Amino acid sequence: MKIVMKIVVIGGSGLIGSKLVTKLREHGHDPVAASPNSSVNTITGEGLAEALNGASVVVDVSNSPSWEDAAVLNFFETSSRNLLAYEAAAGVGHHVALSVVGTERLLESGYFRAKIAQENLIKGSSIPYSIVRATQFFEFVKGIADFSTVDNKVRLPHALIQPMAADDVASALGRIATGAPVNGTVEIGGPEKFRLDEPVRRGLATRNDPREVVADPQARYYGAALSENTLVPGDGAQVGETRFEDWLSQPATIAAGVGSGKP
Ligand SMILES: NC(=O)c1ccc[n+]([C@@H]2O[C@H](COP(=O)([O-])OP(=O)(O)OC[C@H]3O[C@@H](n4cnc5c(N)ncnc54)[C@H](OP(=O)(O)O)[C@@H]3O)[C@@H](O)[C@H]2O)c1
Repeated sequence: MKIVMKIVVIGGSGLIGSKLVTKLREHGHDPVAASPNSSVNTITGEGLAEALNGASVVVDVSNSPSWEDAAVLNFFETSSRNLLAYEAAAGVGHHVALSVVGTERLLESGYFRAKIAQENLIKGSSIPYSIVRATQFFEFVKGIADFSTVDNKVRLPHALIQPMAADDVASALGRIATGAPVNGTVEIGGPEKFRLDEPVRRGLATRNDPREVVADPQARYYGAALSENTLVPGDGAQVGETRFEDWLSQPATIAAGVGSGKP
């Protein structure tokens, strides 16, 4: 007999969170989308005890509203501390968090220092956990372009990237959240490698965005210098099935404007 689990998705209104909630429900589980939108706030603690009551698993796919160095660090530290404390009190048996492949190689960037702080709090807590590190989402190509635009030109390092569809991220998270905690890190990525400028150029062209995309050896990625494999997962990574070109031509992708550009 299948066990129905109450799974709280922190950031359940976001890109990944909303897809994850739908998938968990389709698989017969009892997901709860929790975020300020539904009066659950991991920074203030509002609504957290009620949301976690009776939950077996918490999946944290929240993101900071600000990516400014101090603000993003404060968000992931405060949010993770609060969440883990409330989970301990509620007897939650599995904490799953979404992080980014290569985080420890990107510490020149304030955003990734915040993600490492989040990971370290999870590793130091008493709650069994699974940290899922994903590569860049296809939906994020406009976000990368916007962050890397100088004088209307998108300047990107010529490093490798192995991006993946948000839908495949949500499927992997669903599998991991309903399995046993790994008490370690799982890497997930897309089926193909590109040079960083290639999918960004393709994505902007599909949006009819006129910005020129140039590979620039001096360019940084969110403030961090990249080497060839900084953003690429290791050999043991779980690989999603959706190919970038197929995703680009999906009606839903075109209707959504080829990614929101939101970080
Ligand atoms: N972008 C990438 O390529 C990439 C790659 C690998 C990993 N990741 C990671 O993926 C995660 C999710 O990204 P995403 O793009 O799905 O995020 P997103 O669409 O920006 O959604 C962010 C979510 O966080 C929630 N949130 C904000 N403040 C909160 C608070 N105080 N308490 C509870 N929830 C709060 C938001 O809720 P409201 O809607 O209610 O405000 C929203 O549901 C991030 O942690 C990111 O580091 C991203």
